Amino acid sequence: MPENMKQAVVYQIYPKSFSSHRQQATGDLLGVVDRLDYLAWLGVDYLWLTPFYCSPQKDNGYDVSDYYRIDPAYGSMADFELLLAEARRRGIGIMLDIVVNHTSTEHAWFRQALKGRDNFYRDFYIWRDQPNNWQSKFGGSAWAFEPESGQYYLHLFDQTQADLNWENPQLRQAVFEMMRFWADKGVAGFRLDVINLISKDPAFSEDDSDGRHFYTDGPRVHEYLQQMHREVFAGRELLTVGEMSSTSLAHCIDYSHPERRELSMTFNFHHLKVDYPQGQKWQLGRFDFVGLKRILSDWQQGMHAGGGWNALFWCNHDQPRVVSRFGDEGQYRQASAKMLATALHGLQGTPYLYQGEEIAMANPAFQHIEELRDVESLNAYQQLLASGLDRTQAMAVIRQKSRDNSRTPMQWDNSRFAGFSQTQPWLRLADDAGHINVAAALADPDSVLHHYRRLIALRKQYPVLADGDYRCLTPEHPSLWVYTRRSAAEMLLVISHFGAEAQSYRLPEGVIPEGWQAELLLSNYPAPPAGWQWQLRPWHSLLYRFYPVTPS
Ligand code: NOJ
Repeated sequence: MPENMKQAVVYQIYPKSFSSHRQQATGDLLGVVDRLDYLAWLGVDYLWLTPFYCSPQKDNGYDVSDYYRIDPAYGSMADFELLLAEARRRGIGIMLDIVVNHTSTEHAWFRQALKGRDNFYRDFYIWRDQPNNWQSKFGGSAWAFEPESGQYYLHLFDQTQADLNWENPQLRQAVFEMMRFWADKGVAGFRLDVINLISKDPAFSEDDSDGRHFYTDGPRVHEYLQQMHREVFAGRELLTVGEMSSTSLAHCIDYSHPERRELSMTFNFHHLKVDYPQGQKWQLGRFDFVGLKRILSDWQQGMHAGGGWNALFWCNHDQPRVVSRFGDEGQYRQASAKMLATALHGLQGTPYLYQGEEIAMANPAFQHIEELRDVESLNAYQQLLASGLDRTQAMAVIRQKSRDNSRTPMQWDNSRFAGFSQTQPWLRLADDAGHINVAAALADPDSVLHHYRRLIALRKQYPVLADGDYRCLTPEHPSLWVYTRRSAAEMLLVISHFGAEAQSYRLPEGVIPEGWQAELLLSNYPAPPAGWQWQLRPWHSLLYRFYPVTPS
């Protein structure tokens, strides 16, 4: 893994919605090239681009029909090579999204597989004579009937995303060869889509759940990742992050422990389910703040003790915007966005920020289902109606939960289509683009954008951000999250107020090591009076550093 991993910050780009060089409805790779100076100014080390391979776009590129070719909607291989070179020139590495739990049913392998049970590629997929009760993550059965052969194929996602059979060693070799092709081109890392789902229980057992226990962190997943490490990662400086669906801390330690030679780090989603009432995503709910702290604290301490490494994130292309979710998208948008940024970037792990998060983009308040494009949201809407909700009620859920909340075009300036394009974009812009945009944020030294830039710089300056241990001082408090990060030479104190009401806080005795002195590194309000008791303001955030006084 790369030497800079522990100081690095990754910026996630959803190319379809980032910037359109060709001034079309969708973004493209040259659009990313156009914005590299901005990203270099921000200080990020890597760009993770979600898939831009050939794809019928049923799931916006997570349904790959050719791993070796770039979808013409995004540009050409020459455009990609230019992006690699221009990024490298600015000290930025490009990370590719590798989607190998499934392919599109339009992939040549699947087309071959349809030719008959004897075809070499038949066994690249998972076929059964009878379905079991496993459910697709996008709703309905996870099995689709294929009438020619009379068999069912597995699809944990959309019916057009057929699961690959990792039991087949030739499939594995085909995947590794493809990954080496991109590594040889000079990419700096990989993000591996739902990679902990690739090993299915060979008995295809059932229980009373949706089947997830039989393929999540499955029986051979570590073996497969170790093989991937040997075949693709070994001898190269690659940053690798696995997206882990419904995983466990113990597995994530194993996935990311350097000595096990699997991945550099893992994404997990437990902290983003604190607003799922009874675990149900498609229900309205307030978020459980104490639960959020508990989960993040457990992962901070567990990964630290176990020698694993966390990927830290609030946002991605599958999640609603964090300022709408855990902050205040109205009056305190700026303050709460800065607070959320500091709370996350103070933790141990590698921070990921998702396009638009750095300017506090919020959910766009979709009004009509016709405005949405996401397959999961459209399915969920139908299921909500079928469950008895009326259109207004169903739309209220979609408005809060849909993945399209994060997929609206990036807001660059206050021009007609926000500088994203000069054409009506594929998904509508948020209404606030006139004042929430990069140009305005760049011009305001007090903006959320400048706050993120300082946080990114701090990570490179203070080793305690990478190495320090974690301790939460307010596990049960209803609105305060106060934690320390401590190494032998330094300590950080991060105070985050998740709320608008006045709140006072006094630091318990003994937290600050005797004789150490303090400096305030970052705050979202003017510096408070000196002392270890604070009258906190709405969504207040304070980041202090302590260090021993060196004898003169
Ligand atoms: C996770 C991706 O982030 C999501 O966008 C996609 O729909 C599923 N994996 C299936 O590939």
